Amino acid sequence: MTDISPRTLNMGTENSFVVLAKVNKLIAEGKPIISFCIGQPDFRTPENINQVAIKAINDGKSTYTASDGIPELKKAAADYFTKTRKVHVTPESVVVGSGGKPFIMYTIGSVTQPGQGHEVIFPNPGYPIYSSQTIAQGAKPVPLPLLEEKKYNFDMDDLKKKMNANTRLLILNSPQNPTGGVLSKDELYEIAEIVKPYPNCWVYSDEVYSELVFDGEFNSIVSVPGMQERTVIVDSSSKTFAMPGWRIGYAANEKLAPHLARWVTNTDSCATHLCQHAAVEALNHESSWAEVRKMKKVFDERRNIIVDGLNSIPGFRCLKPGGAFYAWPNVTEACEKLGCKDSEELRERILNETHVAVLSDNHFGTRNEGEGQHIRFSYATSTDHIKEGIARLKKWVEDNS
Ligand SMILES: Cc1ncc(COP(=O)(O)O)c(C=O)c1O
Repeated sequence: MTDISPRTLNMGTENSFVVLAKVNKLIAEGKPIISFCIGQPDFRTPENINQVAIKAINDGKSTYTASDGIPELKKAAADYFTKTRKVHVTPESVVVGSGGKPFIMYTIGSVTQPGQGHEVIFPNPGYPIYSSQTIAQGAKPVPLPLLEEKKYNFDMDDLKKKMNANTRLLILNSPQNPTGGVLSKDELYEIAEIVKPYPNCWVYSDEVYSELVFDGEFNSIVSVPGMQERTVIVDSSSKTFAMPGWRIGYAANEKLAPHLARWVTNTDSCATHLCQHAAVEALNHESSWAEVRKMKKVFDERRNIIVDGLNSIPGFRCLKPGGAFYAWPNVTEACEKLGCKDSEELRERILNETHVAVLSDNHFGTRNEGEGQHIRFSYATSTDHIKEGIARLKKWVEDNS
């Protein structure tokens, strides 16, 4: 009988896509759904980018490109990294991919070997692909708990304890999905000091929300002296320019670049040609950056509305996230009030009884002991939706507890 491999059967997934299928079914049934599920900007791609893509189609940009990307995009990404990360990044060390996501698999595949006990440390709760790809690639997952008392950063002593001679990769994500936590410059320096004694340990810095830091400026570990050589920085057009479906990302590390490019050859061949031209326009032109600034301002306004709204719901407690477009309220008390055994049961009841769609903490890893229950709200949705969703939730909690 034909079989499916255990590694595929055991591979995790991104549950927002699973919940989204259920949400779409309810919408098709005519239910008045308000969704806080999906992590993508609700804005149109800036018009100057669209026009360049249309021109690219008309100009016949329909061929394969080099696996590491067209030279113009490698240069645009290198210039962008050089300017924003304050280190010199050459076009040769940049690889273009179909979004930021594939680089998670490519990097884990490039720096770990199955059966050797190689370990990958990643934030927990965290973007679920870190864990699923670590397991799929035959390495050992080492989740690093993020703590509410540390504004959803991790404890440095805990990181120290988890590092050892088998650690091949430390994944950082700032601003963070799902908590909205941001690593400060001081914290990045501390992390660097912990990593430096381990010569075999790479750092994967997932920076796809780099343009969405609301308080202060964005910092990258690659800017810490001595860290560039072992750090792969990854950013993408998805969140920055409202281009998630265009599938363009860029990674930079001098030593890893040819290996990442070989992974691209083995999987996608190259990122979509015409979208690469659109991404050059996005990175190089002031009109797209003006749109980025406008979107950021709107996200910041929504951040205040949603955090205040969530904190007004009995049993909800929400820290103000420093970046990205997620709110991560602690709902332990609400679960108790409503008789829900955990956040997943709360999530299902919220969806079925109020038609408000959210994700729960079990979609982002295992719950950390003593940290309670959480749900995730993406506020990449209109202010009216945010207000209506919060009002529904508040009334429902008040009526049912
Ligand atoms: C932390 C994180 N990394 C990577 C990605 C993937 O981004 P991209 O669309 O560039 O593949 C996401 C998307 O939600 C994310 O939240």
